Amino acid sequence: MITIIGAGKVGGDAALFSAIKQLDDQILLLDIAEGLPQGEAMDINHMLSEQGIDVEIKGSNNYEDMKGSKIVVVVAGAGRKPGMTRMDLLKINAGVVKDVVGNIKKYADDSLIIPVTNPLDPMAYITFKTSDFEKSRVFGMGGMLDLSRFKQFIHEETNSSRKEINALVIGEHGENMLPLTRLAKISGKPLPEIISQEKLDNIFTLTKNVAAEVIKLKGATVHAPGNAISAMIDNVVNDKKQVMPVSTYLDGEYGFSDVSIGVPAILGKNGVEKIIELELNDNEKDWFEKGVKSVKDAISGINV
Ligand code: 2OP
Repeated sequence: MITIIGAGKVGGDAALFSAIKQLDDQILLLDIAEGLPQGEAMDINHMLSEQGIDVEIKGSNNYEDMKGSKIVVVVAGAGRKPGMTRMDLLKINAGVVKDVVGNIKKYADDSLIIPVTNPLDPMAYITFKTSDFEKSRVFGMGGMLDLSRFKQFIHEETNSSRKEINALVIGEHGENMLPLTRLAKISGKPLPEIISQEKLDNIFTLTKNVAAEVIKLKGATVHAPGNAISAMIDNVVNDKKQVMPVSTYLDGEYGFSDVSIGVPAILGKNGVEKIIELELNDNEKDWFEKGVKSVKDAISGINV
């Protein structure tokens, strides 16, 4: 069973994509709001019936129902509203996430946890610390979403097939995210050999800022995060061992410790199997370090 805690738009979409991809035969949507997860489950089940997909979605307000889950996704908490940064959600969501993780420990102590709640990196840190799980079992979704946007801007700029784009976004899922324009490739050819530095810099800035624009236009980001969650679940349950950016706890990797932040990692059935350490240039190291500092400042201000 896969459990998704938080049955709002992103949680609902994560359940929908995971069901269509048949990542498990049972998906549980949990939420404290009475009726919401049940209604969402009904709606998705109706769609699955028409499609002839034998995945059962269940909606519940009872944490006990997540017993036996192998993956728990945490989307619960307040979402980013127009004009807000992700960090503006820190205090309110820290309490929500601690409470949720307490319940995961109680009822799904063998699971892998994918934090999604913002601000993502501090929440991944709180989840790791509160759960006391091995670090490989807690890996947050932020980088995969930033990467979806990065790929879209590369696609728009170069008109190349989306499938041919190989790229990564690491660092903070926030104001200091690091789309690695220097290392991106299209069909094996480095992106800096295809477009100018000015265009690379523009893609970097657009990738960093576009979530705020979507939120301003439609109130929330939904499909890209929902899909990114399901891509990570797919990698894990099918033991694919693809490299994905995840927010995980660093213990000396990239020169930092006692912080959770986005790094490339091989994911498999046990969670993070290996963190990939890329050779960053000085400019990239600066961005990464700024992200680490921002996350450390945030977590130092809350009781973990
Ligand atoms: C996003 O990047 C708000 O973190 C959320 O879409």
